[in-house]
Amino acid sequence: MNAAPFADSFMKLSTWHNWLLHGLERLYANPKLYQWSLTNPFTRWITKRRTQQIFDLMSGFVYSQVLLGCVRLDLFKMLYQRPLDLEQISRQTKVPPETLQRLLLSAVALGLLEHRSQQRFGLGALGVPLAIHEGIGAMVEHNHLLYQDMQDPVAFLNNAWRGGMADYWPYAHDEQASERAAQDKFSRYSDLMASSQEFVVQEILGSYYFEEHRCVLDVGAGKGRFASELALYAPHLKLKLFDLPPVLELAKANFQSKGLIDRLTVCPGNFLHDPLPPGADLVTLVRVAHDHPDDVVQLLLQKIHDALPVGGTLLLAEPMAQSHAGGSDGAAQTDAYFHFYLLAMGAGRLRTPDELMRMMRQAGFGSIEQVPNNMPIHAQILLGRKHKCLP
Ligand SMILES: C[S@@+](CC[C@H](N)C(=O)[O-])C[C@H]1O[C@@H](n2cnc3c(N)ncnc32)[C@H](O)[C@@H]1O
Repeated sequence: MNAAPFADSFMKLSTWHNWLLHGLERLYANPKLYQWSLTNPFTRWITKRRTQQIFDLMSGFVYSQVLLGCVRLDLFKMLYQRPLDLEQISRQTKVPPETLQRLLLSAVALGLLEHRSQQRFGLGALGVPLAIHEGIGAMVEHNHLLYQDMQDPVAFLNNAWRGGMADYWPYAHDEQASERAAQDKFSRYSDLMASSQEFVVQEILGSYYFEEHRCVLDVGAGKGRFASELALYAPHLKLKLFDLPPVLELAKANFQSKGLIDRLTVCPGNFLHDPLPPGADLVTLVRVAHDHPDDVVQLLLQKIHDALPVGGTLLLAEPMAQSHAGGSDGAAQTDAYFHFYLLAMGAGRLRTPDELMRMMRQAGFGSIEQVPNNMPIHAQILLGRKHKCLP
């Protein structure tokens, strides 16, 4: 496994700025500062917030297990029907009330559930999305594999590809996976991707204007959830899907069930070995690049460029690193999740928008831009065009 080039992750700081950061580091380490800051009304909130943040980092595992416990007991859907008291929930879940109460009170503390009248429990603000979006619960359950792999984080770093996550993603370690792995392995990850794609689809459809295109090739299309929703959203479009053969069997069934099969061409293949089909004026690459190492992504971008007509467009959408942007709203914390998820999965990595734009430029794309979107936590969106000018 090669260390990836993370040049973008390091801020370019002047000497005096480095000196200032070093000074602040020493100041924070001074034991008297803690006591002093708590007595000072102007600094008290900073110290309290830092203490809370450290506590959250320490207890994050318990928070995720509370969430998983609620998902496994189906509490969100149950309480979406109507609020229930401890005894009623205990009867339905078959968990003794004495211990179930700990889970319910913890879920209340985390904003997943809420106290209601007559000692009942209802959904909290964070529980509502879990009750109505299948994909979130599916990801919570799936993350259990990652957390099992990471139980000993240092051992994991020394042996990252030996766990359940590596086994879950057959193509991430085996170029011939589509010939060797069983169909159920492809169905399993494709179902998860289709259910978790809902929010990504909304981001793309809400941010990009598809009117000018006539044929879209979705590379790494999975079961075709994005492509089928795009087909319904923009009835003038023809769709081509490229993915491994066992996955495209699932996509065909999906298009068939939605009555969209006439607008679809399936192109089974492996982008490591096969060229991409020509004929589309827009290629979409959704949550694919981050699964692969730099050399594979560069090859894939090159193949997309080759397949596009002059003036054709690439739309690349996936979660991208946010910490480099210096956001203060906690969004950057999701980088930590993706760094480890992608490591456990295989040889891919989380990239910054700048890194991906550089790779697109290297593949020959021009007019590269980032499309602003509302929820970068689901995906950020980049566009590039195949030059109309002669080289
Ligand atoms: C993480 S999934 C994303 C699926 C879908 N675009 C989404 O966002 O839900 C990556 C997809 O790329 C496909 N894929 C991975 N390696 C491939 C290869 N070498 N050739 C063709 N497809 C590949 C996988 O089968 C899978 O469907």
